[in-house]
Amino acid sequence: MATNTEKNRSHWDEAASTYNTKYSKTINQIIKEIQTRKDWIGVDWAEDVSDDENTSSSVPKKTVRLLDYACGTGLVSRALAPYVTQCIGIDLTEGMVNEYNTSAQNQGIPATEIHAYQGNLIDPSQPTPAALSGKEFFDFDIAVVGLGFHHFDQPALAAKRLAERLKQGGVLMIVEFMPHEHFHGHNAAKTVTHMGFSEEEVKKMFEEAGCGGDFRYLEVGKGKIAFGEGQDKVERSVFFARGSKL
Ligand SMILES: C[S@@+](CC[C@H](N)C(=O)[O-])C[C@H]1O[C@@H](n2cnc3c(N)ncnc32)[C@H](O)[C@@H]1O
Repeated sequence: MATNTEKNRSHWDEAASTYNTKYSKTINQIIKEIQTRKDWIGVDWAEDVSDDENTSSSVPKKTVRLLDYACGTGLVSRALAPYVTQCIGIDLTEGMVNEYNTSAQNQGIPATEIHAYQGNLIDPSQPTPAALSGKEFFDFDIAVVGLGFHHFDQPALAAKRLAERLKQGGVLMIVEFMPHEHFHGHNAAKTVTHMGFSEEEVKKMFEEAGCGGDFRYLEVGKGKIAFGEGQDKVERSVFFARGSKL
């Protein structure tokens, strides 16, 4: 029987090329919500650096690095790119990584600023995959998972593995669905492992991962989403949660 990781891999590889068009409305809404709440997220963003004329040009510019985990086509990176100096995406599937990188290339953004890699940080048997062990994959100011936790076998392990990639004081954030009824009718349903997350559940996961500092959970809105061609729309409430690495 296919493991959940294999199910995710085959489903999302196939879904990658149509993801942006199929979910364009939801993607754009969530990007807007993230940008509106950038102060709530609580990172000292790159744009906040004041241009001091007396600063010698040899002083390095402040860097703010984003890890966009389970990045898909790049929703979270698109939302936060204006406020960080580097976005690194990681996704399980080659299809999603290609979509992410093609979109950055098409906008003329160099790979040193925005680039995604294929990989899996939440394989219980492999704490640090060799391909993701370089220093560029550590010391992030913020790690975000956009709508990925409900597809993971072990979201609590994901929180721990992502916490390891943050610098002290760095922010772990998820964009997720609030608890809801299971909906069986869509293609991605086979990859869904969790029917949303309550505030208590997320708080516990974040605390156990060492990211319980200044924990916040915020409902950002309800929307109706059709998960498949010809499928009825189902209502989902989206929340953001954030915690700082202690
Ligand atoms: C619903 S999509 C979300 C994509 C994107 N973050 C967004 O908000 O639009 C879920 C993504 O999780 C990825 N994924 C699933 N399991 C994963 C794992 N173990 N590690 C990394 N990515 C994973 C899938 O390949 C897919 O791109």
